[in-house]
Amino acid sequence: MNSFQIKPVIQYVATFSEFAALMDFTPEDCLFTPRYLYETWLKPLNLPSHILLFEDYGNGEPTDEMIDRILLDFNKLNCQRVIAIGGGSILDIAKILALKPTKSTALDLFTGKAELIKEKQLILIPTTCGTGSEVTRISIAGIPSKNTKKGLVADALFADTAILIPELLYGLPRHIMITSSLDALTHAMESFVSPKAHAYSEMFSIEAIRLLLKSYKTLLASDYDSVIQDIAADLMRASNYAGIAFGNVGVGAVHALAYPLGEKYHVAHGEACARFFSGVFQAYRSKVAGGKMQFLTDVLTEALDCSAGQDAWAVMDELLKQLLPSKPLREYGMTETDIESFADSVVNEQQRLLVNNYSPLSRDEIRDIFKKLW
Ligand SMILES: NC(=O)c1ccc[n+]([C@@H]2O[C@H](COP(=O)([O-])OP(=O)(O)OC[C@H]3O[C@@H](n4cnc5c(N)ncnc54)[C@H](O)[C@@H]3O)[C@@H](O)[C@H]2O)c1
Ligand SMILES: [Fe+2]
Repeated sequence: MNSFQIKPVIQYVATFSEFAALMDFTPEDCLFTPRYLYETWLKPLNLPSHILLFEDYGNGEPTDEMIDRILLDFNKLNCQRVIAIGGGSILDIAKILALKPTKSTALDLFTGKAELIKEKQLILIPTTCGTGSEVTRISIAGIPSKNTKKGLVADALFADTAILIPELLYGLPRHIMITSSLDALTHAMESFVSPKAHAYSEMFSIEAIRLLLKSYKTLLASDYDSVIQDIAADLMRASNYAGIAFGNVGVGAVHALAYPLGEKYHVAHGEACARFFSGVFQAYRSKVAGGKMQFLTDVLTEALDCSAGQDAWAVMDELLKQLLPSKPLREYGMTETDIESFADSVVNEQQRLLVNNYSPLSRDEIRDIFKKLW
């Protein structure tokens, strides 16, 4: 049976001042955000609410240990509503803060050993254009003790409201815009070929692919600072659409392979996904070229304005290289012995994702993708 849901109410306002005027901030709110966004957008408002700053607990992407440190302080505040403003890292942690407190550690939560009960109101406001976390029921954390990342999936993690404010993307550095939007492109492409995909999810996947490729063409034809304001709304919408699609039908091997690299060598999630994107889709195409993959090739051919006879996948690879130059995995510090251990880690820890592969990939096929990209 196919099913499809969009749980949070999605609101859209063009500017932060419009959003601030609509909100009624109270002393029972906790705003969770990185310092840079706090200084730029929130501090001038002089709000009565509690403020929790991400950098006081660590940096990079969330880990179970970092979440435990944040929970320790957050649970003393007695807040009724969590308002998170930030990238996927912030939004994913906020989903845990909105749960009913328990004695369990974050490791217990992320390894399925604790019950999840939603307790607080949750408002998620994305400031990157990649994860779509504002609409998914997923939270992802690094588990340093296992050298990989784990995704927690439960209805209790849904936000009540997702608010899209394109103006928040204006200050996004180019590299973060590129890597986070490549995460969104991966969500859109992997969800499109997921065996669970259906007409509703496909509509969101395809529109996300179109908006992203259109934005990339605009970006590459001009200077970043002069176009980011023109493409911000499309990027934010694309990331949200891709989140709706993959939140319903899943992502697969690109994400599964990206997790050990991301956790062990601290590679930002979008960049890690970008490294495996072409390798995984090439493997799929060499196994099952027709069917859904042909449909995707047609979508890319049209979105990339390919001329007759032009290979859309080659054009896509070239475009991706212009956005993010190629880099072998060894340049992130990955060793040759990691090739085997990462392949084992993917097979042992990421079955949740591997079931969404377009075509099954064996442990040795996964190892060969790592080897080729190393
Ligand atoms: N829950 C989900 O559905 C889901 C989906 C995909 C990825 N993720 C997770 O999300 C995390 C990655 O999130 P991300 O790619 O959004 O990056 P991020 O949240 O880690 O942010 C990357 C950097 O950009 C900065 N930043 C964010 N917004 C900014 C802005 N507007 N201006 C300037 N700087 C800004 C942050 O402070 C940080 O330094 C990973 O942990 C990944 O696993 C979650
Ligand atoms: Fe992702």
